[in-house]
Amino acid sequence: MHGLIPDKLPRHLAIIMDGNGRWAQERMLTRIIGHQKGVETVRVIVEECSRLGIGYLTLFAFSAENWLRPKTEVKALMALLKKYIASEAARMDANNIRFNVIGNRDELPPDVNKAVQGAIDRTSGNTGMILTLALSYGARQEIMTAATRIASDIASGVLKADDLSETAFASYLFTGGLPDPDFLIRTSGEMRISNFLLWQLAYTELYFSSVNWPEFTPAELYRALSDYQARERRFGRTSAQINTRS
Ligand code: IPE
Ligand code: IPE
Ligand code: MG
Repeated sequence: MHGLIPDKLPRHLAIIMDGNGRWAQERMLTRIIGHQKGVETVRVIVEECSRLGIGYLTLFAFSAENWLRPKTEVKALMALLKKYIASEAARMDANNIRFNVIGNRDELPPDVNKAVQGAIDRTSGNTGMILTLALSYGARQEIMTAATRIASDIASGVLKADDLSETAFASYLFTGGLPDPDFLIRTSGEMRISNFLLWQLAYTELYFSSVNWPEFTPAELYRALSDYQARERRFGRTSAQINTRS
């Protein structure tokens, strides 16, 4: 049907959902309408990924830097987020999806945080795909927070400096417990990371789609995934080593 090899799908797929504003502006609509359309794409892509059997889906929904946008846009985005999370919790639950959030939750309005907590609690026993929304998320802030907590744990004796390893460091990040993304898709033609998962993307395969997020369809997702399946991940080794598993 979609021609994908089931056992070669990314275990963890991350997406930078970009281009809502441009999609709307090209149609003489307000940016907010673009965000509303973007939410519909989220619903479709989340269910498609869950159906495909992807283990972890992480979506960049609102960056730490997005607070700098005009107040009206930020307000509308927060209202949309709250509505989406509250209304989707039941559907996530029905699809056995576990909901998770990374980012600085203290900066979110209390009502958004309440909806977030409600969805986390409601889906906490689910065993299917783990859907992580990055909200008020910035990777440098995440790394700084981890460094501060590590310093304080070393000072208080909870952690020994000698015991600090890559694995131990990673456990202090918001993504502690999640595997690193295997594949990252960014829509709208922008070719940058925009402060997303800087530590975790070290060996992630990158894919840039020119389609704006409101128009990103399952067919575009399959196109991206089949591109991923044709890649050889070498992690610094040679191609011969990968192919002989030596
Ligand atoms: C992505 O779309 C959604 C968020 C960043 C919240 P944008 O709002 O960035 O859309 P463009 O990039 O301006 O087109
Ligand atoms: C990145 O998109 C953040 C999200 C998709 C939530 P932006 O639209 O904020 O990124 P820049 O500013 O173009 O780099
Ligand atoms: Mg953008």
